[in-house]
Amino acid sequence: MSETTTMGETVKYVLDESRLPEAWYNLAADLPSPPPPVLHPGTGEPVGPDDLAPLFPMEIILQEVSTERQIEIPGEVRDVYRQWRPTPLYRARRLEAALETPARIYYKYEGVSPTGSHKPNTAVAQAFYNKREGVTRLTTETGAGQWGSALAFAGAVFGLEVEVYMVKVSYEQKPYRRALMESFGARCVASPSEETASGRAVLAERPDSTGSLGIAISEAVEMAAQRDDTKYSLGSVLNHVLMHQSVIGEEAMLQLELADDRPDVLIGCTGGGSNFAGLTFPFIGAKLRGEGDVRVIAVEPAACPSLTRGQYAYDFGDTGHLTPLVKMHTLGSTFVPPGFHAGGLRYHGMAPMVSHLHELGLIEARAYTQTEVFAAGVEFARAEGILPAPEANHAVKALLDEALRCKEEGRSEAILVNLCGHGHFDMQAYIDYFAGKLEDRAYDEAELAMALAGLPSVPD
Ligand SMILES: Cc1ncc(COP(=O)(O)O)c(C=O)c1O
Repeated sequence: MSETTTMGETVKYVLDESRLPEAWYNLAADLPSPPPPVLHPGTGEPVGPDDLAPLFPMEIILQEVSTERQIEIPGEVRDVYRQWRPTPLYRARRLEAALETPARIYYKYEGVSPTGSHKPNTAVAQAFYNKREGVTRLTTETGAGQWGSALAFAGAVFGLEVEVYMVKVSYEQKPYRRALMESFGARCVASPSEETASGRAVLAERPDSTGSLGIAISEAVEMAAQRDDTKYSLGSVLNHVLMHQSVIGEEAMLQLELADDRPDVLIGCTGGGSNFAGLTFPFIGAKLRGEGDVRVIAVEPAACPSLTRGQYAYDFGDTGHLTPLVKMHTLGSTFVPPGFHAGGLRYHGMAPMVSHLHELGLIEARAYTQTEVFAAGVEFARAEGILPAPEANHAVKALLDEALRCKEEGRSEAILVNLCGHGHFDMQAYIDYFAGKLEDRAYDEAELAMALAGLPSVPD
């Protein structure tokens, strides 16, 4: 660690609780064109609130289609946020020194939340609205276990039962995440399970299925649709989820003002798109309003490359085809990625809003393999002392590449990355990495082609 670079210089930009954002930012207000509508798979017509009412509370449905720029954060939600928000913005001075880069590197650290990632930002809001509308039970899916833990925490705060379908490969790799969910009072089931028709259908075809987010979503949706007291909660992809995450970028804007700086490059990893959106949408909105330019980079795993290799098409959000059709970059709803160590990034599609931005040329996308992202995460940890979640390592890898580009070009750009979670529950992945056991397994091209061939046909 270099003392000369850190002496006396600010490392951490913190905001007082009084500066916690009072409203979420909704990018829909500033888009040059709206994303294509969500369609009913039976009729091919845009879905209305009544179609979604069995699954979501009305306030959430209204937020999903809102074009208001600001949506007030209820006081009850802000009171819970206050426990860990505003989160710190760090200047990565030791990493800058280690890389010998002229770049100014910042990271917004969401790992300080009670469950270790950005996910509680929307879990708390969703639990609050469900509780207010009389719901007593929530079902959901989880990949890495970060989202399941976050909803379990939010359920404990608002007194809701929570049932989590956890992708089987993660369920087996991460018993401590399951224990955390159970500590909060949630029930956790390995997916695919025998408990649902969707799970049983997958198991009949592939008894050794390692699961996927698409399958776990089907199971959670199926269970929610069956009971009046139960609704479904999604941890990413949908507009309202992305909007709840905007507190990340809103705070970062204020913190960069404290640093008297502006970002040239923004970076986030993308599973369903929510942490990426949370950091970048407030800045993209400012850009669309002519208030400053910025490059925005979405980073995904090469083994599940929806933005870089997927098709921009209408598709189901789940494998069992229980959800409406959304236009997004997709690998096909039946695509099951190989079992790599970033469970939160194993989703076949990308948020419609993020996909739309990519189509409009407002964001860039790139994909990395898992060994190179773990190498990046370890390099980051050795300089900054925070071990990132495997998902966040994707963003860190792009950060290192951009910082080294700045070094080569002799440019002092400001790079801001979303460090969306810590990796303390992911130590088995790191153990495997150090033992040389991580494989860069490519997805099965034939399976991808088959999944894409099965995309639903939708009239123009
Ligand atoms: C730490 C972390 N980062 C990223 C993701 C990916 O989701 P999203 O793209 O919605 O942020 C997850 C999902 O579980 C996660 O746990």
